Amino acid sequence: MRQSRKLSPRNGGVKPKEMRIISDSSEMQTLANRIRETDLLIGFVPTMGYLHEGHGSLIRGARQQSDIVVLSIFVNPTQFGPAEDLDKYPRDMERDKEIAREAGTDYIFYPEARDIYTSEFQTYVNVEKITKSHCGVSRPTHFRGVATVCTKLFNIVLPHWAFFGQKDYQQCAVIRRMVKDLNMNLEIIVLPTVREADGLAMSSRNVYLTPEERKQATCLYESLQLAKNMVRAGRTDARTILMAMREHIKRKPLASIDYVSIADTDTLQELETIRTEAVALLAVYFGKTRLIDNEILRVM
Ligand code: PAJ
Repeated sequence: MRQSRKLSPRNGGVKPKEMRIISDSSEMQTLANRIRETDLLIGFVPTMGYLHEGHGSLIRGARQQSDIVVLSIFVNPTQFGPAEDLDKYPRDMERDKEIAREAGTDYIFYPEARDIYTSEFQTYVNVEKITKSHCGVSRPTHFRGVATVCTKLFNIVLPHWAFFGQKDYQQCAVIRRMVKDLNMNLEIIVLPTVREADGLAMSSRNVYLTPEERKQATCLYESLQLAKNMVRAGRTDARTILMAMREHIKRKPLASIDYVSIADTDTLQELETIRTEAVALLAVYFGKTRLIDNEILRVM
């Protein structure tokens, strides 16, 4: 891993005293080029805003090892399906600015949709196999939107490394695959999932839950812990573990399972037997709200 450099009079000009917001993609790209010319290292955190502690931990992670931290806030229309929550996706820019500043952001890249997707736009990045399973079944165009916007953001922000949360495990696997397959010149760093006190993974979508759904939503984390403990106790047959996870979730009347899966940590192919390690992944609906979570399972 490259080491971040000390600021000197030569490169000090690109490090703002106060956090700056940039909306224009050409301005952002010109600035990123200037930063690169001064040898400073750019850490990048892509988000859709409505920031919480999960995003905060990514910004702090970026802050620790980068000279310049860029956060993007862009609710990306191409990753939402026609019946999904694009229009009602929560937004709060004033609060986001506070959280971003606190966590150590230098620049917020905050583009408008018509800047990122002009009326002439017609180029998409399609990662094939790994996007078809799991979340790709109920959201068939989602990862095409994610891969496309991340490619664009990487080309605009020109980061040395980009930070992603393990909470969106399949997203991390897709982006890693894409970066390798297309020889993209950056490193992907994945940081652990940040959770509420009762184990629920933090998510901008948790605000959609009713109080009763919120209570029952702990079943995602609990079922993952159940799986982890079963593997620790020596169980390696995926079918038995999956059955126990499903039974636990089904006890909650408001929960409806989209998928529960035990898969290879890189390819996400379903496993019958866990040899050394695997990932347990799940997606569960509460009403229209779809929550996801995952946990690495290791054979002791
Ligand atoms: P968003 O859901 O805003 O998430 C931005 C980043 O924060 C992602 O890398 C996500 O995995 C991470 N994150 C979310 N909740 C987390 C938690 N509880 N703990 C740790 N990290 C967490 O993911 C997206 O936006 C978009 O798909 C994006 C990559 C920005 C492309 O549009």
